[in-house]
Amino acid sequence: MIRVCFVCLGNICRSPTAEGVFRKRVAEAKLEGRIATESAGTGGWHVGEAADPRSRRHAKRRGYVLDREAQQFRAHDFRRFDLVLAVDRSNHDKLLGLAPTPADKAKVRMLLSFDAASPEGAEVPDPYYGGDAGFEEVLDLCERAATGLLAHLRREHGL
Ligand code: 4NP
Repeated sequence: MIRVCFVCLGNICRSPTAEGVFRKRVAEAKLEGRIATESAGTGGWHVGEAADPRSRRHAKRRGYVLDREAQQFRAHDFRRFDLVLAVDRSNHDKLLGLAPTPADKAKVRMLLSFDAASPEGAEVPDPYYGGDAGFEEVLDLCERAATGLLAHLRREHGL
């Protein structure tokens, strides 16, 4: 099993969206038996909460279901994942700080490094304090990253 975790700050907007989008792509490719997905936040304020209703509403309109409870990413979680994908630089750097070993640090990548159309270092903007357009932009970026990520995993693992 290839295990992927998407990580943002609160685990209620960006990383649940990335997970929901990617999980649907994996299901459509009939790869649920090969690729497992989760998401988490580097912060703990929203642990146990459902995804933000705005994220859920926008995602649902595109056919994605965001139905996981928020969890916080901890150092020991590195053991459970092969790839840990950060939505922005701040969370990327927090993950590097948490990673117990060099091998764990090597699991951390920027999510948009898998989007061919995003420039180097591109970030998924936090939609929390903004309006509808921000949630739609998150979905656009997550869909593009999901395409590149699935192609990457197919290549790397011969799927
Ligand atoms: P997320 O958005 O990291 O995309 O889930 C946020 C949600 C909540 C907060 C920050 C970002 N917060 O500070 O509560």
